[in-house]
Amino acid sequence: MQYQAPADLLKDKIILVTGAGDGIGKVAAKTFAAHGATVVLLGRTIHKLEDVYDEIVQAGSPEPAIYPLNLEGATPKDYEDLANTLDEQFGALHGLLHNAAFLGASTPIRQYDIDLWYKVMQVNLNAPFLLTQAVLPLMEKTPDSSILFTVDDKSSAYWGAYGISKDALVSFMKILSDEMNSDIVVKVNAIDPGPVRTPLRIKAFPGTNPNEMAQPDSIMNSYLYLMGTDNYDTGKIFKAQD
Ligand SMILES: NC(=O)c1ccc[n+]([C@@H]2O[C@H](COP(=O)([O-])OP(=O)(O)OC[C@H]3O[C@@H](n4cnc5c(N)ncnc54)[C@H](OP(=O)(O)O)[C@@H]3O)[C@@H](O)[C@H]2O)c1
Repeated sequence: MQYQAPADLLKDKIILVTGAGDGIGKVAAKTFAAHGATVVLLGRTIHKLEDVYDEIVQAGSPEPAIYPLNLEGATPKDYEDLANTLDEQFGALHGLLHNAAFLGASTPIRQYDIDLWYKVMQVNLNAPFLLTQAVLPLMEKTPDSSILFTVDDKSSAYWGAYGISKDALVSFMKILSDEMNSDIVVKVNAIDPGPVRTPLRIKAFPGTNPNEMAQPDSIMNSYLYLMGTDNYDTGKIFKAQD
């Protein structure tokens, strides 16, 4: 995407990033902060979130917040608490990046482990539903807010629960954006990052040379565009590497 974000694109914006401790989420959080946002770093591994926090503060960006949460075990009450905390602390939520994901196993459906199926669906599909539902009232009262789902076109053999959860997110995005569409208070879109060098990608494609994959930094213009006020689209899937 040919987009050059102004340095202050996200000044005074509050943006929540799930899976902010590693991979694309880590770089997205740092990039949003570098463009002025106060970022809420949500993830399950506290030391990784603390490292991202330190990097953001050292870069001179607005101080982020850390919100440890394991999406696999989080309950509706946990999401309600999160929404209340965001409302009390900031009174607004301009951006929500659904980024965290669990790969599960590369297994035929016939043999797919049932417990693993539930875990993948919990992290990749149920958590975005519960989180979205909890923070929607806050986002609806925040002018020009944006929800971004991270999708991945993997509707082929052996992608199992991961591929199906990612396809379901596309429908989720379209349904939600349609429901918002009467006066587009909240923009709802999806981003497909394409192949990017991260722990998830290297695990999914162990035979591929990581040096041949794009770095997360190289796709951040798309993330900035979709989180910022220059985008007026809703209900669309954006391919970050097209
Ligand atoms: N990389 C690619 O080529 C590619 C391509 C298409 C789509 N995507 C999508 O892009 C997004 C980011 O992927 P990535 O490649 O950056 O993956 P990654 O490097 O594995 O990072 C995923 C992040 O999600 C977090 N996470 C996983 N399970 C969690 C849980 N139960 N609770 C809270 N956080 C959890 C991880 O936390 P820990 O650090 O604690 O493990 C990690 O910070 C995903 O939605 C993925 O499907 C990636």
